Amino acid sequence: MNIKEIINKKKNKIELSEEEIQYFITNYTKGNIPDYQAAALLMAIFLNGMTQKEIAYLTIAMANSGKKLDLSELGNVVDKHSTGGVGDKVTLILIPIIASLGIPVAKMSGRGLGYTGGTADKIEAIPGYQTMLSEEQFIQNVKKIGVSLITQTLDLAPADKKIYALRDAISCTDSIPLIASSIMSKKIASGANKIVLDVTYGSGAFMKTKQEAIQLAKEMQAIGEMAGKETVSVITSMEQPLGYSVGNTLEVIEAIEFLQGKMQEDVKQVVLEVGAQMLKLASQKEWVTTKEERMIMPNHVDTVQEQEYKKQILENIKNGKAFAKFKELVYNQQGDISYLENINQFPKAKYIIPVYSQATGTVHALDAGMIGKISCELGAGRMNQEDSIDLTAGIILHKKVGSQVQQGEILAYIHTEKQNTIEKATKDITQAYQIY
Ligand code: URA
Repeated sequence: MNIKEIINKKKNKIELSEEEIQYFITNYTKGNIPDYQAAALLMAIFLNGMTQKEIAYLTIAMANSGKKLDLSELGNVVDKHSTGGVGDKVTLILIPIIASLGIPVAKMSGRGLGYTGGTADKIEAIPGYQTMLSEEQFIQNVKKIGVSLITQTLDLAPADKKIYALRDAISCTDSIPLIASSIMSKKIASGANKIVLDVTYGSGAFMKTKQEAIQLAKEMQAIGEMAGKETVSVITSMEQPLGYSVGNTLEVIEAIEFLQGKMQEDVKQVVLEVGAQMLKLASQKEWVTTKEERMIMPNHVDTVQEQEYKKQILENIKNGKAFAKFKELVYNQQGDISYLENINQFPKAKYIIPVYSQATGTVHALDAGMIGKISCELGAGRMNQEDSIDLTAGIILHKKVGSQVQQGEILAYIHTEKQNTIEKATKDITQAYQIY
């Protein structure tokens, strides 16, 4: 077997065998296959697709390329993952809520790349918070207080890390087989036995249409089933940013306010939908859903049980238990909880500049992809995996879809340390809005 033959097969649309996929993953991870050959194979996959069998083999090979966490001593652990978005602070909000309802939460989160933020970066905006813990410490924390949030360790699915960086460099990120295997390999390696996926569509997501998001969800569910992990997908819109803040510190502040009861409607809907599914899967170790129940569409009508779960979530926000659990999580990982008690303490960007509307009318669209890209240019995101980010940078939106606007009213505030980005960001934010 050699890599040239494997590339040639994929180029000619011939299905790859388990051994061939395993050969590629093992040897690319070890550095025995150069980037140019791996890039050729990934491009052939991008162009010719993969069968469900190939996707399953690729996922398992990537999951097995490094260490796999064993969380079995924690019982029935439900993980949650978003396929990417702009202003998506749902994980930060949900994990204390779920833990406050007595469900163990052992969450490993990634870092952001491009305009999709990572929860690990966001929570590090809380001074002192430690995201890099050993596996033993991580499990101990969950045993002690019911929740821990850390970043993915370097040896979790290392093949995916290498392949993801290469995909990014050769413009192959938006491929359903590659996204499905990338996400699910990390979910399988990180040890949860049930998974809820927030599968996003729209300008701020990898999948631009609802149909593509459903297709991606189906592929990931097939992988979940094959791996024996009950997997539910919630299909959500990412046409406009989620909530009002985009950027690490800014999103943490919005999450804190949410847990204190100031809930933005679109964020609330995703929190309730994903949270209800997490609680449903957590209710017993055996599988609790039928195939139809594992795909939650935007027009989904709640069952009585789902309504009950949503009530429980809202109750724990109202009675302060969810926020108390968030403080406990932060304290337990050396974060300074005085910032949670007084959000004015968070450091602010040097330049905070308003963007004014040039039109009067209703906001009909607000391009999430553009807002994500601008936020990245202001310093909130990283272009390459090794770049550093500016935690204070980002955008606060004052108007969203459906808002009425007068000419000269403030649409948004730019937060940045980089004075030379302000002029372009102002122009681009104005263009991201469709007002008429
Ligand atoms: N998130 C991932 O982890 N991988 C992808 O390919 C896309 C989103």
